[in-house]
Amino acid sequence: MGTTERKRVISGDRPTGRLHLGHYVGSIVSRVALQEKYDCFFFIADIHALTTKREKEEIIQMRENIREMMIDYLSCGIDPKLSTIYLQSAIPAVYELNLLFEMFVTVNRLAGLPSIKEMVKNAHIDPESVPFGLIGYPVLMAADIVLPKADLVPVGKDNEAHVEITRDIVRKFNLTYGSSFPLPDFLPSEHPVLIGTDGKGKMSKSAGNCILLSDDAKAVEKKIAGAYTDPKRIHADVPGTVEGNPIFIYHDIFNPNKDEVASFKERYQQGTIGDVEVKQSLAAAINLFLDPIREKRRALEREKGYVESIIYEGTERMADIAADTLKEMKSAMGLSGTWNKISRIAREYEERKASAI
Ligand code: TRP
Repeated sequence: MGTTERKRVISGDRPTGRLHLGHYVGSIVSRVALQEKYDCFFFIADIHALTTKREKEEIIQMRENIREMMIDYLSCGIDPKLSTIYLQSAIPAVYELNLLFEMFVTVNRLAGLPSIKEMVKNAHIDPESVPFGLIGYPVLMAADIVLPKADLVPVGKDNEAHVEITRDIVRKFNLTYGSSFPLPDFLPSEHPVLIGTDGKGKMSKSAGNCILLSDDAKAVEKKIAGAYTDPKRIHADVPGTVEGNPIFIYHDIFNPNKDEVASFKERYQQGTIGDVEVKQSLAAAINLFLDPIREKRRALEREKGYVESIIYEGTERMADIAADTLKEMKSAMGLSGTWNKISRIAREYEERKASAI
């Protein structure tokens, strides 16, 4: 296949549900591009999701979310022929390597991470009752990254410290056992965060300020019509602010007609255009952008069983790769002795049986 010399990329998402334009701009678009150059592994981090959500109903909901996310990925151009798409919880080696890696990092380092504190806060967890597993979030991530021997990890800034921890774990491991497992690099996103339609913070489902990749044209029109814009503009003749205005940020990203965008900006700043016109043109541009994604989504939804078959195949492939790496790591640690012996005994048993016939 000629892919063996390619560098490997890994990234994952917790199964939080349908993806929105913020996901698209922040990660999906770059993943689609990375597929051309690298051997990519994209996975659903459902064990990571258990660190904050583990009620029965939440797990049932996760299954639904996984399907939706898979459809979002595939309809945006993540290609199972180029990338391995898999389900984390179905890879046995992940649990094992997680445990071994726990020996190579201190509790203090993990507990002091701002990202962990942020997760505790967002999940409304009492700081006195933080689960052990949540403190171990970055260790589990290290297992994810090391199992396919990934070289590059494209994730948001909030995950940068976790990749640093992975590097430290691998460094210690290599030093301790004289091995040379690759040190992964953090690959920062080119377009880190997209502002939400409320103009307040980043686009996110919990803030209720997002446009979903699966929204229909009417929903997009409605959300854009109600989106935040310069509040000074009570009339169309009041000069408006373009900088930081979500409407113009979106125009820059989604409207391919750059001349139109430039003229809108100029007229907006002069107070010679109404918000309605700018917004209607934006909604049309976003809908035009979403149309091919919607079409692929419909085709995927029609093809019953396809999405499941893709995740199944990717998971099988990853399970084999992961088992090989884990075996190598255990062997480097001197933990495989028992297994060598067990297989020798199996061979001897078989031979004895054969010669007794
Ligand atoms: N922490 C990532 C997130 O915020 C998900 C994730 C888990 C991940 N393991 C990973 C990302 C390994 C990249 C590589 O959603």
